[in-house]
Amino acid sequence: MPDEATWSDYYEANEGRAPRDQLLDVLARFAEPGNAVDLGCGAGIDTLAMLDRGWTVVAIDAEPEAIERVRRRAAERPSLETQLSPMEDVDLPPADLVWASYSLFFCDPARFPDVWARIQAAVRPGGRFAGELLGDHDTWAAMPERTAMTRAEAEALFDGWDVERFEEEENDGEACSGPKHWHLFHVIAQAPD
Ligand SMILES: C[S@@+](CC[C@H](N)C(=O)[O-])C[C@H]1O[C@@H](n2cnc3c(N)ncnc32)[C@H](O)[C@@H]1O
Repeated sequence: MPDEATWSDYYEANEGRAPRDQLLDVLARFAEPGNAVDLGCGAGIDTLAMLDRGWTVVAIDAEPEAIERVRRRAAERPSLETQLSPMEDVDLPPADLVWASYSLFFCDPARFPDVWARIQAAVRPGGRFAGELLGDHDTWAAMPERTAMTRAEAEALFDGWDVERFEEEENDGEACSGPKHWHLFHVIAQAPD
């Protein structure tokens, strides 16, 4: 998190939010619940939404407070596993869904190709990836520790996949750290069978 804001500030600020629309969208595309990875799960609001709908979830985050919050929120449900790990180092289990909501752009850019290859390998044939990628016009794109890309680069990540949703968002807005310019790609894509 940039500037003075901490992940704790982000978790507090988001505590009352609803599950993300894009999560509900991708879940509705499955005939039945399966197993998901919530990569960069934060405080676990989306993890809980998946558990509530019958999914088994591996929730992964690099921040101890995130893992503490998700475990508290989910109250020791057996269908939840948590892993405290940077996404750059984690072994992803095979999954019907990899959900990476507002997290992938915190990946070390030098490690992103490997992380992306592991995400693609983890998603089962016919399974899905959903989440956000950071566009090159975003304020954070200038930060050397963030992974940002052009629209063409984002689209190329899904070569051979069935892209079910690809929405480009660009506007001036807010982050926990204050005002910023947002440029995001919201993606849902299905892996080939
Ligand atoms: C903006 S929050 C998004 C949290 C949640 N997915 C959501 O949509 O509210 C980004 C999350 O990614 C986690 N994160 C940042 N860098 C990470 C990394 N390299 N590996 C794993 N998690 C990371 C942060 O700890 C934080 O919980």
